[in-house]
Amino acid sequence: MTLITDVRLRRVLDSRGNATVEADVTTENGGFGRAKAPSGASTGEYEAIELPVSEAIAAGREHAVPRLVDSVYAGDQREVDEALHAADGTDDFSEIGANTAVAISMAAAKAAADVLGAPLFQHLGGAFRGDSFPVPLGNVIGGGEHAADATHIQEFLSVPVGAPSAEEAVFANAAVHAAVADLLDERGVAAGKGDEGAWAPSIDDSEAFEIADEATTLVADEVGFDIRVGLDVAGAELYDADDEVYRYGDETRDKAEQIDYIAGLVDEYDLVYVEDPLDENDYDGFAALTDRVGNRTLICGDDLFVTNVERLTEGIDAGAANSILIKPNQIGTLSDTVDAVEQAVRNGYEPVISHRSGETEDTTIAHLAVATDAPYIKTGAVGGERTAKLNELIRIEQNA
Ligand code: PGA
Ligand code: ZN
Repeated sequence: MTLITDVRLRRVLDSRGNATVEADVTTENGGFGRAKAPSGASTGEYEAIELPVSEAIAAGREHAVPRLVDSVYAGDQREVDEALHAADGTDDFSEIGANTAVAISMAAAKAAADVLGAPLFQHLGGAFRGDSFPVPLGNVIGGGEHAADATHIQEFLSVPVGAPSAEEAVFANAAVHAAVADLLDERGVAAGKGDEGAWAPSIDDSEAFEIADEATTLVADEVGFDIRVGLDVAGAELYDADDEVYRYGDETRDKAEQIDYIAGLVDEYDLVYVEDPLDENDYDGFAALTDRVGNRTLICGDDLFVTNVERLTEGIDAGAANSILIKPNQIGTLSDTVDAVEQAVRNGYEPVISHRSGETEDTTIAHLAVATDAPYIKTGAVGGERTAKLNELIRIEQNA
């Protein structure tokens, strides 16, 4: 069996050099799982609360660990996650921290898989998966909250929709990332990288569209399958609630203009995916845009839904979006995360399993994407904390 016998929490580094929570869960019969919490920069207003790491660890040790050790089976994920909720006692993990909660929740799942001798994706429900694999959305140009003095739109994504395998999709995104560097170089534009490894040049959004379009077309010709462009607008970060406008530097767009602008981009660049095109409180705006272009592109809610079943239900009722971004640390446990995926799928919303801008070498989301048969995974294109997940996806595909 998988009775939890020990839970340890420690402070480790994330990809931005900030502290984050690592959890080790040990079970009887030698099961061991280790997981780390990621962290956002363009965080949604309605996300579960990430506490300062030292506070989260102290609160976890005081409240969560005693409820888990010698009382809960790691293999019973719902019991683990209910114990975390009971230890916290709030509805947003503001007592023990969503960072501590998600690290323990994921570490328990890994410990349970370890006892079974099964890969994590199988333990999480992927035993009957078919041949399909999640298509990786690769961030190749970006700015917003992830890089200073770069594009207003947060992420320009390479989406290899025609790739015959996860492996070829992953390499296609890396090739697009390299092609973007060449195109920037040809234009004499210097660029560093943002938090997720995307190029972060000081260019306007229209030039970024040109370059993303050209780079994906070039690589698609080389590899012989279709590669499209997607976006994470991160609309809540652009939105000025006082003046009720979206600010792109000196340029502003009101809500109607923003909807027109995005709908125009979908047609002009044949966008396959648009995340957070509007503010995180604007269900109506999301619904109007989905009504206009939802038959030919995915309109995905990230800050809008925050992996929260109640917020997703509100969106479904309003007809807002047709896709949901899934980030385990937005809600704090794997059970709540899978509930959001299942609610989405039941209602025809495509789930996209996602990393955060602050990441670690943890690979749980690669397994989660396969386990839930998600059509997409968003986890960058290059950079060690991103390639950890991408390489794991390649291994899972090969049953390695
Ligand atoms: P975050 O950004 O992790 O900084 O919130 C990622 C996203 O908005 O999708
Ligand atoms: Zn987002």
